[in-house]
Parts: sequence; structure tokens; C-alpha cells
Amino acid sequence: MAALLVKNIGMLATPEGRSAKRGKEQGRIRILRNAWILCEDGLIAGLGEGEAPALCGGTPGGGDASGCEVIDAGGRLVTPGLVDAHTHLIFGGWRQYEMEQKLKGVPYLDILASGGGILSTVRATRSATEDELYDKAKQALDEMLSFGTTTCEAKSGYGLDEETELRMLRVIKRLNEDHPIDLVSTFLGAHALPPEYKDDREGFISLLCDKAIPEVANQGLAEYCDVFCEKGVFTAEETRRILLAGQRCGLKSKIHADEIEAIGGSQLAGEIGAVSAEHLIVCPDEGIESMAKGGTAACLLPATSFYLGASFAPARKMIDAGVAVAMATDFNPGSCPCLNMQFVINLGCLRYKLTPEEVLTAVTLNGAAACGRAESRGSIEPGKLADFIIWDAPDLNYICYRLGSNLAWQVVKSGIAVKKNG
Ligand code: NIG
Ligand code: FE
Repeated sequence: MAALLVKNIGMLATPEGRSAKRGKEQGRIRILRNAWILCEDGLIAGLGEGEAPALCGGTPGGGDASGCEVIDAGGRLVTPGLVDAHTHLIFGGWRQYEMEQKLKGVPYLDILASGGGILSTVRATRSATEDELYDKAKQALDEMLSFGTTTCEAKSGYGLDEETELRMLRVIKRLNEDHPIDLVSTFLGAHALPPEYKDDREGFISLLCDKAIPEVANQGLAEYCDVFCEKGVFTAEETRRILLAGQRCGLKSKIHADEIEAIGGSQLAGEIGAVSAEHLIVCPDEGIESMAKGGTAACLLPATSFYLGASFAPARKMIDAGVAVAMATDFNPGSCPCLNMQFVINLGCLRYKLTPEEVLTAVTLNGAAACGRAESRGSIEPGKLADFIIWDAPDLNYICYRLGSNLAWQVVKSGIAVKKNG
């Protein structure tokens, strides 16, 4: 039996439960001091305060003979591994050449409307081979792991034709098999209208609903379907049609909603029982109400607000209204080329004004819930995956307060110490 004992933990901070935390519950976490965690076969077998158990891996005292590894946390903080519930992990190229336009204040949607933005990444992605996309995304995952991400959602959406979209989804599948980070796959065929359909919206939407979505579902390549519901991209009614076609094929719904303009995405999310609505920078009160009613999680992306120089989503209002708030990076080559969840933690406190406890829940258990994984991860509890971070930090406040350093000292994924920094 593969076992790992982590002892001498100064503070263990974790939400608890197997579903999203809403309202006041979002800020209620369990704190253990002078704690230990025992992992067996990739799962949490036990945890407690005080003296670590003498038995580890079936042998008194553990040690080499039993195959039990022991890590002395040296009084550090331990939290669950971070769940990055919204990324555009797979893409060709980067977009540093847009910097000049951005500095001149050209709006994000104007860059897209002129054939740049997402569409320029579509060109780079279409011309990349499967192995090139794989290698590039793997490098990103390695970096994410070093910052403490142990599960991440990954979207397609830079192909916008069936062949490239399927290639992107195959890359996600392969990486899920090969890389320590667990991936949750989302089909975002409706990320933009591709140039070859620019005069035929109906043709593209029919293609998605009647051909691409059934094919993706048949091949088992995605669990979620997502749409960029935004002014000049897809309307709320088009979004509804695409997501319902997804639901008929067994794909659960996510929506890019209210990122730049509020055109009904968050209201729709609650109505159709979307698992999450994402961005929500300009989410109106009716959207919050609908999400609370429909049990839709809000997946907020503060690093994108920061990067676009936009305002920040009304996180406090959402928590007060009983919406579960998760936070993720939105890693992508345009609006947020950042894969560091620790920066998201900083912004959650400093910009959303959430407490460190609420932020911790947002980046762990609620992130897991936003991508349908709260049963198996997002908290440190017996029976869940042994995914956690030993931080170079004495307590939870410290990781919200320090900025710009990688504070993950040791990342443990499925009971294996996978990444040691410093
Ligand atoms: O979530 N908003 C739509 N999609 C991405 C940006 C994609 C891009 O600019 O390449 C986002 O921000
Ligand atoms: Fe996004």
C-alpha cells in the first residue's frame, strides 16, 4: 500500500463537504493546528491534531521498510490543492503583438470584430499539430502544478471547425491521462463565429447543434458545453439553443456570461440549470437571482478583470444572495495569459474583498463544484483524493497577503509529492 504521512503541519485549513458552499457557509472552514495527514493509495486516510500516528503503511513508525514516505511540514500551512475551474488551456501561439493596441485602449471586442483576438489564435491553433498543442499545454500544466493547481477545467474553442476542435479535445484527453493534474473537458465550439461562417450564423449554429456536439459527445471527448454569450458574439437565445443541444447529448452547461456587456447570460444560466456561469463582471441583480434559484455556481475570474482593466464582479452580492462563488484563472492567450491561482487568491481578497476563508473555499471546494468534482476533491477529508499544498506560509492570511512569489513549497497530488519548490 502506497502511504504518505505529512506531520508537523502548523495550520491545516480546509472547507468541508461534498458540495458547493453558499452564503455564510462559504466562509466556514475547518482549522487544525499542529496537525498531520495520512494518505493511502492516493486518498486521504486520516487527519488529526497532535502527535502523528505511529502506524504508517502498516508498520510501526513508518519509514522505508513499509514503503511509507514521511514529510515534515516544518510548521507550515496546508490547504487542499487548488481547482482552476476555467481555463482555455489549449491554443497555438500567443498574442503579445496585441499589446500596442491594448495600450492605446482599443476595446477587446473591437480587436475581435476586426478579425484579431480570438480569431487570430484560431489561425495559430488550426495550423498547429496535435503534438505541438500537447507539448505547449503540458508546459503550462507543469507551471500550474508548481503554483498548486491539482485539478483544472480545460476548454476547446480555438478551432471553430470540427477537425481542430476534436484535435484540441483529444489533447485534453491525452494530458488527463499523462499529467498529474486532473483535467475536466469542455467543448467551447461557440467561442466566436469563424470567418468562413461570417455571413451565415444560422449555418454555424446548426452545424454545432446537429453535428459537432453529437460527435463530441459520441466520442466521449467532453463533459461540458460552453458558449461565449456576449454582445457581437452569441446572443442569449443562440446560447440557449446550443446549450440545450448539448444537454440532449448529455453535456452539462457552462456559460461565459456578462463579461463585457450583460445580455442575459446569467439569467439563462439559472433557467437552464447550468452548472456554472463564468466571468459575470457586469452581472445584473436578475442574473444573481436566477443563478441562486437554479443552483448555478458563479465562477469568477478576477485576473481577467485585472488584465482587461475592467471592473470586478459583484462577488459579495453573490455570496449574500446564496450563490456559490468559485474563482479561477481563465488562462488564455488574450484576456488573461496568467495561470497562477495564487494571484487569483490575492485578487479575491484585495478586489472582491472576500475573507481569506471565503477565498479558500472559492479556489478549492467551490471550484471543484463548478466543474462537477466536489464529491472527490476540494477539501481535505477522509475518502477524498489526497490533493494538497504545503505552503511556504505559516497561516491562511499570509497567502492572501504576499504577492508575486510562488509560495507553494510542496504540492501533493493523489498522495504523491509531485512538485517541490525552493
Ligand atoms: O474567457 N471571453 C472569451 N474567451 C476568453 C478570451 C479568449 C481570448 O481572448 O483568446 C475569456 O476571456
Ligand atoms: Fe474564458
